[in-house]
Amino acid sequence: MNATTQTLNAWSISSYGGPEQLQPVTRPMLTPAPTEVLIRIHASAVSRADGMMRAGTPRFARLFLGLRRPKHDLIGTCLSGEVIATGHAVSRFSVGDQVYGMSGLSFGANASHICLDEGDVVMHKPDALSHAEAAVMGDGPCTSLNFLQNVAEVRPGEKVLVLGAAGSLGTAAVQIAAAMGAEVTGTCSARNAGLVASLGASHVIDYATEDFARSGQRYDVIYDTLGISSFGKAKPVLTRTGRYVCPVLSFGLLFSVLRTGLLGQRKARFSATGMLKPEDQRALHRQLIEMVEADKLAPVIDRTYPFEQLVEAHRYMETGHKRGNVVVA
Ligand SMILES: NC(=O)c1ccc[n+]([C@@H]2O[C@H](COP(=O)([O-])OP(=O)(O)OC[C@H]3O[C@@H](n4cnc5c(N)ncnc54)[C@H](OP(=O)(O)O)[C@@H]3O)[C@@H](O)[C@H]2O)c1
Repeated sequence: MNATTQTLNAWSISSYGGPEQLQPVTRPMLTPAPTEVLIRIHASAVSRADGMMRAGTPRFARLFLGLRRPKHDLIGTCLSGEVIATGHAVSRFSVGDQVYGMSGLSFGANASHICLDEGDVVMHKPDALSHAEAAVMGDGPCTSLNFLQNVAEVRPGEKVLVLGAAGSLGTAAVQIAAAMGAEVTGTCSARNAGLVASLGASHVIDYATEDFARSGQRYDVIYDTLGISSFGKAKPVLTRTGRYVCPVLSFGLLFSVLRTGLLGQRKARFSATGMLKPEDQRALHRQLIEMVEADKLAPVIDRTYPFEQLVEAHRYMETGHKRGNVVVA
């Protein structure tokens, strides 16, 4: 096919706000630069991070996103599709390859097509994953592997508590921590208890009826996927060298990370996974693909919306009660 004869369909965001700010747009088709691949997108994720970028929250994030309005007017960060054209210097990919990847802070993943540099986070899609499943690999799976392996440094046999075990990060974390040989406990509502147990949690805590801090258990790692707790609350139920890790940055978390970096054996830690170097993110994805191929990891897809219904997909994602991941396809 001749990619230059088509148009690009995408979703634009010209000012920060709610899902209604999203507008469908048509643009001229992209042409890959020498080291880029042009991908026809089959599925793309609608993640909590996408919602925060759309809303421009937290406000300090606007230092990166654009102070008054989004610097990049297209939205979407994680995608899966097929390579339909390559720049003349591309060596890792060929036309027809099935791939998934991240557009990161260049955005534009909720679209019909995208150009990505082959040196960025672009991976060959394993056959075991559908495009919908592959599209979310850069969200929950990659973030949770980074947090459990590199930030919390989970070791086999350790007790890991996942707060928010039914979300995108949580459903991946339960599977990854179990694959790492940890004993996993997850918190979720009663309706998601079966799901969380089926993913590999040995114990499930219903957050509506039980407070993890009063369960009488101690944990080597508490992974607070939603930022719903704090180091201060977690500390009494952490083991002597326990780690509280959280992907949702707040002033309270920042203070705890700085203070425990200097004092005490129990630590609070944070990381921005999407800001890691592309080669480090690719290394995480290679590990994730091995887990997928060994049947130890399968991304959980809650809902798949038609591409035209991105606004509805954002509204559902923002309820705070999705199970795993939401995609548009
Ligand atoms: N720093 C990083 O590298 C990084 C990377 C990616 C994402 N993030 C951030 O990580 C956060 C988590 O994203 P996510 O996509 O995993 O969230 P999510 O999928 O939207 O979380 C939804 C889940 O949270 C559960 N939940 C709601 N309240 C709860 C509570 N009090 N206790 C336990 N579970 C509760 C819901 O279960 P019920 O319906 O059963 O209540 C639902 O299944 C976001 O803020 C995102 O921006 C950070």
